[in-house]
Amino acid sequence: MLRDPAEVRSALAGRGRVGFVPTMGYLHEGHAELIRRARAECEMVVVSVFVNPTQFGPGEDLSRYPRDLEGDLALAGGAGADVLFHPEAEAMYPPGYATTVRVGGVAGPLEGESRPGHFDGVATVVLKLLNLVGPDRAYFGEKDWQQLAVVRRMVRDLSVPVEIVGVPTVREASGLALSSRNSYLSPEQRARASVLSRALRAVQAAAASGERDTGALRQSGLAVLAEEPDLTVDYLAVVDGDMRERPAVENDSMTRVLVAARLFGVRLIDNMPLFPE
Ligand code: PAJ
Repeated sequence: MLRDPAEVRSALAGRGRVGFVPTMGYLHEGHAELIRRARAECEMVVVSVFVNPTQFGPGEDLSRYPRDLEGDLALAGGAGADVLFHPEAEAMYPPGYATTVRVGGVAGPLEGESRPGHFDGVATVVLKLLNLVGPDRAYFGEKDWQQLAVVRRMVRDLSVPVEIVGVPTVREASGLALSSRNSYLSPEQRARASVLSRALRAVQAAAASGERDTGALRQSGLAVLAEEPDLTVDYLAVVDGDMRERPAVENDSMTRVLVAARLFGVRLIDNMPLFPE
C-alpha cells in the first residue's frame, strides 16, 4: 500500500503497461471486475481508495460513507492489484487548494442537476489521480454511466494521455446493481431495491416492442417504480450519448435509460442500454 502521492509514479516506473482503477473503497464484485479486467490487459495494476470529499454535497453521506481498508486490501489483491494507493485528504487537497476542473455539456443534466458540484469534484480528483499514477489505461464502471461520459469528455478535452475503458455493470441475482451504498440497506430493503432494474427492463421491453417515443418509454419505467410505495423518483430519462433527451429515440447502441431514486433514505442510481445487444 502506498500513501504518499509523490511516490506512486516512481513505484511504477519501467514496470510495463499500467492499468488504473480509481475507487472510493468498500470494494465489492463490481470493483473486482474492473481490477480483473485491468489485470488481464496490463503488467501493473494500481487501485486507488480515496473517499473524495469534494464530490459530496452538503447533507450527503460523506461522513457515513462505508470504509473497510483491510477488506479492500484483500479484495483488490485477490482480484490482481499490485499496488493500492490510499492517500490522505490533506495530501490530495493541500491548504490553499484553489483549482477545479469543470466539465460542460455531458456533466450538466441528470446527476449534474440533482447533485450540483458533484461532477466538478469527480473530474478534479480523477484528473489528479491520473496525473499521479500516469496509467496507460483507466477502468470505469458503466454503473456510473454519466460519470464515464464525463471522464471521457474531460480526457479528450484536456488531452490527457490515457485510454478510458468502460466495464459492464455487475449485478446481484435480483438485478440490483452492486454498490458500496447498498450496505446502507437491510437484506429485505435490498430485495425491494431491485425495482430499479425491473423498471429499466420494462423500458427495454417497451422499446423492443417498437415504442420510440421517449415520453411513453419513460412512462413504462415510471409505472414499475410506482409499485414501490417507499420510493421517490429523482429522474428516469432516455438519453443519447451526449446525455440529451430527445422526443423520439433511434435504435442506437449509445441510447441509454438512466434512473435515480431514493429508497429508505438511500440514493440509488442504475442504467441500461435501451437496445441490449
Ligand atoms: P466508486 O463508487 O467506488 O466506484 C469506483 C468504480 O467502480 C467506478 O468506475 C464505478 O462505476 C465502478 N463500479 C461501481 N459499482 C459497479 C458495478 N456494480 N459494476 C461495475 N462497476 C462498478 O465512482 C467512484 O467511486 C468515484 O466517483 C471515483 C471515480 C473513484 C472518483 O472519486
